[in-house]
Amino acid sequence: MEIKATTRLTGVFGYPVRHSLSPIFQNAAFQYLGLDMVYVALEVKPEDLEVAVKALKVFDFVGVNVTIPHKKAVVSLVDELDGEAQESGVVNTICCRGGRLKGYSTDGQGFIRSLKEEGRFSPENKSALVLGAGGSAHAVCGALVRSGIGHLFLCNRTREKAVALADHLKKNLSFTSTEVIEFSQRHRKAVWKDVDLLVNTTSVGMKENDPLLVREENLHPGLFVYDLIYNRLTELLRNARKLKLPHLNGLAMLVYQGGISFELWTGRKAPLAIMKKALAKYRGGLGKA
Ligand code: ATR
Repeated sequence: MEIKATTRLTGVFGYPVRHSLSPIFQNAAFQYLGLDMVYVALEVKPEDLEVAVKALKVFDFVGVNVTIPHKKAVVSLVDELDGEAQESGVVNTICCRGGRLKGYSTDGQGFIRSLKEEGRFSPENKSALVLGAGGSAHAVCGALVRSGIGHLFLCNRTREKAVALADHLKKNLSFTSTEVIEFSQRHRKAVWKDVDLLVNTTSVGMKENDPLLVREENLHPGLFVYDLIYNRLTELLRNARKLKLPHLNGLAMLVYQGGISFELWTGRKAPLAIMKKALAKYRGGLGKA
């Protein structure tokens, strides 16, 4: 990639941010399509977020991604919000057009597109069990509801947060087909019999000695397993693989949400195959993580 005086800027604001994989696949996409753009990781401390957002206009950025811990704080710093960002209260993508900053949330759509296109799973009228009730669970559940999911089982260590998520879906998306499952009851066979899709949005499994989240005996034939974790092969995914169940890890969602950001910035179709290839080459696959 040739950086010239005309090269336009994109990147990611985060803190920490040096672990980000986005520069790998976004720059591969720019290069593949011959776009005069570059994507850089920008470490922005929380106390500097406001000035960093203002600088987007000064430096005429095309846009940026926004990640932990800025996704909520940045909402009040942009000029306007897309519908999904408004509903979820988080922004992970900013577009700079005509001197105005617009905030988007592409996580939910990234999840759904990866599920449908890469996982070949259609959520319509199916039932899903979502583990966790934080920011990722909000994005995943919102997107599943928009895609016509029939029923949602919500299960979180802190029960009140699962209840709050169910309330949020009712209030914002008029979706009432939810059922909160006690975290301590998650191994009961009866819970699993009607589940078509399992999504882990918790951080359980990121570390080698993490507690067991789902028992192997509950992974029944036909179940689709989506674990949002991508730093290592989790026990959950290892079992899904062993049982030959359809499954995806968080790299799929990462690339697809990045693809949506790319499309917002460039107006071009994201070359997802190129982006995935760049990531696989860089990381050597999930199994070896
Ligand atoms: P994110 O934005 O990635 O969703 P988050 O908002 O911090 O991150 O949410 C993390 C999720 O992982 C929460 O649902 C959290 O459960 P609590 O609400 O009870 O904190 C869940 N989580 C983290 N560590 C966990 C553990 N050891 N056991 C069970 N759930 C855990």
